[in-house]
Amino acid sequence: MIILKSPREVGLIQEAGRVVALAFEKVEPLIQPGVSTQTLNDFIDQLFRDNGAISAELNYCGYPASICASVNEVILHGIPSPKKILRDGDIVTIDIVAKKNGYCADAARTFPVGICSQRALKMIEIAKESFDNAVSLVKPGIHLGDISAAIEATAKSHGCSVAREYTGHGIGRTMHEDPMIPCYGVPGTGPILRKGMTICIEPMILEHNAAVRVLKDGWTVVSKDGGLTSHYENTIVVTDDGYEILTKL
Ligand code: MF3
Ligand code: CO
Repeated sequence: MIILKSPREVGLIQEAGRVVALAFEKVEPLIQPGVSTQTLNDFIDQLFRDNGAISAELNYCGYPASICASVNEVILHGIPSPKKILRDGDIVTIDIVAKKNGYCADAARTFPVGICSQRALKMIEIAKESFDNAVSLVKPGIHLGDISAAIEATAKSHGCSVAREYTGHGIGRTMHEDPMIPCYGVPGTGPILRKGMTICIEPMILEHNAAVRVLKDGWTVVSKDGGLTSHYENTIVVTDDGYEILTKL
């Protein structure tokens, strides 16, 4: 069941979204060779609290940290650790969900660490381009499959794959609501978008093959072939004639 949000509820999600955007702005300068992903976790956890929010990821289904910090071949749910030190040339995805006044906002960005290879930087761009192409279609009356297909087509145009086992999603009082929004699909299929839907569009891109596996910790998802991965996500609301991004300042 897709829950449509009132303007008041959209405003509350937007307030949480501002905290998410602030976290990205403030953490970016810390993302340097030598810093641990635990340091990034603790910084964002504190920033959330200082801004009246908490991490909706902490303890979610037993998830043991406040952010996901996923390096290189880790596509999702990298668990921060003081032992995981960022190195020059890595790319790291920070995926965060702030909950404030009962409402959640969710976004992800992949950042370069120090000096990166051209192909690593290209991976970061492809995730953003996939998001931009998908979100540009959003307005009442389109199908969810239109969004999914745009993500898949963009990734494929660069010779990349999309994650198949993980999807975007609706969002509101909880971080995952209906509908699921796969990164692949067929235009003209799936639920129709309506004004007041709040959704997370999140291209998850693999450099080569789409196959992934989960490590023994039960969380960390990696590309099976060891190829690089990237991710770009925002929470948006469907408006009268288009959309508004809610995870921005
Ligand atoms: N933020 C992720 C998403 O985009 C969900 C992370 S779940 C967690 O849907 F438990 F790992 F935090
Ligand atoms: Co999400």
